Amino acid sequence: MGVARVKLQSPEFAADPTRAYEDLRRRYGPVAPIELADGVPATLVLGYREALRILGDPEHFPADPRGRQYRSAYLAAVAEIDQYRLRSTVESAAMPLINGFCGAGYADLLADYARPLTLIVLSDLIGFPPRLRTEAGAALLDLAEAADTATSDLAERQFRTVLAELVAVKRDSPGRDVVSTLIGHADAFDDTEIVDQLTRLCVMGAEPTWNLIVNTLVLMADDTGFHDDLMAGSLQLRDAIDSVLFTDPPLANACPRFPQQPQVIASSLLPANQPVLISITACNNDPAVSGDHTGNRSHLAWGRGPHTCPAQPIASIIAREALDQLLDALPEIKLAIPLTDLPWRPSTFHRAPAAVPVTFPPSLPVGPRA
Ligand code: HEM
Repeated sequence: MGVARVKLQSPEFAADPTRAYEDLRRRYGPVAPIELADGVPATLVLGYREALRILGDPEHFPADPRGRQYRSAYLAAVAEIDQYRLRSTVESAAMPLINGFCGAGYADLLADYARPLTLIVLSDLIGFPPRLRTEAGAALLDLAEAADTATSDLAERQFRTVLAELVAVKRDSPGRDVVSTLIGHADAFDDTEIVDQLTRLCVMGAEPTWNLIVNTLVLMADDTGFHDDLMAGSLQLRDAIDSVLFTDPPLANACPRFPQQPQVIASSLLPANQPVLISITACNNDPAVSGDHTGNRSHLAWGRGPHTCPAQPIASIIAREALDQLLDALPEIKLAIPLTDLPWRPSTFHRAPAAVPVTFPPSLPVGPRA
């Protein structure tokens, strides 16, 4: 007899994932049967120790082989990024966006701030010339929001077409950007390989970054103590971000692994060739290992083991600077609706609000900080 498998991409799950994870843990323990998509069975890991074992054992739990050969290129691309320039890029991107809504007294911080800011900053890092940015941003957004495989395939094709154009531009005139680093990499990738790498970088990087920004704002809007401590200077933005990475990380379920042989984890038999997904949120909040979450970096939000996020410093800087600029300009931001009414997008992988409506006292446009 088949097991009843929970589907993570459902409105009920998105409305209250904490309860859904608790329910799965109570019913199944540290590993639970789920359905990744219609008719695609998978295992969701809810136990922190079990997740560490899986992520630290690439021999028995390999990641998708398509991403494997690019690791050193990703690391080289990130190492070349000038963090000082990155901070000023975030600041220059933040100001006009904030000035676009600061006089109105209300905004949707996802559509009006976190998402465009992330797209502008990543486009700059990657090396898009201004004429390709709008097209690339629109295609990436369509890709992130695609509701079915046909829409997602079309958006990916459009995105790859813009990327191919970008690679051609940078082969002719390289600059100080991610594409030029990938073109100059010792492995001498061809154009299709570089387009593959860029697609993976953008798909892996964009949405979690804008969700980290808004999820931190939601935590601060919800927890007035947190907000007040932050404003009073007794808490750092870094702590607020770490707290979100622990309790409600933007990549809630991630790190798919594909055992080639049956494996036993927590007395459960995981079948060969069936994906194993780590529930980062459930593992971080595993009662078997719970502790103080503020300033504690033992969370799994960036993954663990050989595939740990290569862009962790970059994403952290973007989120911190974006929040710093916004809270500096508009310190009295409040959610415009009760937290329980905040709409969340159903997603297997992302913890993603559909909108973050806020209010604040209207203010005059901001200028560059001294
Ligand atoms: C808040 C933002 C981010 C979060 C929470 C995040 C999280 C993660 C996690 C959990 C993994 C591990 C995947 C696995 O083990 O299979 C990962 C890998 C990866 N991330 Fe990030 N990431 C973020 C931002 C970014 C950004 C900005 C980029 C690039 C611009 C990026 C590029 C990648 C790539 C290429 C990998 C795959 C590495 C590999 O397979 O070796 N990420 N990320």
